[in-house]
Amino acid sequence: MSNRTVDNHSPGDFGERPLSPGEIRQISKKFREKDPWEVLRWGAEQFGKSMVLACSFGYEDVALVHMLHRVAPETDIFYLDTDLLFPETYETRDRLAKALDKTFIRVRPEYSLEEQAKLWGEELWKRDANACCGIRKVNPLRRFLKGYSAWCTGIRREQSPTRAHTEVVEWDHQFGLLKLNPLAYWSAKEVWAYIREHNIPYNPMHDRRYPSIGCVPCTRQVQPGEDSRAGRWSGMDKTECGLHPSGEIKDRR
Ligand code: ADX
Ligand code: SF4
Repeated sequence: MSNRTVDNHSPGDFGERPLSPGEIRQISKKFREKDPWEVLRWGAEQFGKSMVLACSFGYEDVALVHMLHRVAPETDIFYLDTDLLFPETYETRDRLAKALDKTFIRVRPEYSLEEQAKLWGEELWKRDANACCGIRKVNPLRRFLKGYSAWCTGIRREQSPTRAHTEVVEWDHQFGLLKLNPLAYWSAKEVWAYIREHNIPYNPMHDRRYPSIGCVPCTRQVQPGEDSRAGRWSGMDKTECGLHPSGEIKDRR
């Protein structure tokens, strides 16, 4: 089974901020020196079922799913199904689900593609990609995370200048919960070595010059020498979908 659908996550209040900014900095620093699964283990011990992993089925995420499966197999894992993912992404989901006997929670937008077209017009992504990402990714994520105290992601410093300040443990100002980025300091090479060592199913598009894979209309193949995220929202003035706000945010609390 690979799908448990969440249409309308019941809204709840975000919990109290569990750690002070100083404590977060200290913990983050400690985990820089350790393996990524150590931070996943720590998160699972601290937060139990109120920690969750965000999985796009890209190569970083399949590695994280495998690590989490080793240290805290009961932890929830979800994916944002925009209804516009590649067939290869759904196939990767199914292969990984089978290999690990894991169910992935399917988080859906409030509006189907037909409803979105009726309300905002056809192919909104071509005219206003930020609005489309808001409807199909950011709003569903915001609703879903209200049920949790910590979320884990596969972002890495190396991925882009907008992610260069990523820390292993951060306070997520946008969604109001702790954010764990266990691979923040890992290179692509290290992630691939882990995948190969453990024979983890991954999206075959990665072997066809798609280093970063999102929705079909907003992802293209990269040319030799191009940046790994050059294929995302190519030709648009957009580099992030809004799940991971860019730049360093100073913590004033
Ligand atoms: S994006 O913001 O440009 O789409 P990217 O594809 O690099 O992000 O993925 C970065 C991290 O965001 C992933 O490792 C994953 O944790 C989370 N993420 C991105 N897309 C999804 C998705 N569709 N479902 C769940 N998590 C996602
Ligand atoms: Fe819409 Fe493109 Fe964002 Fe997907 S990546 S939600 S198609 S704008």
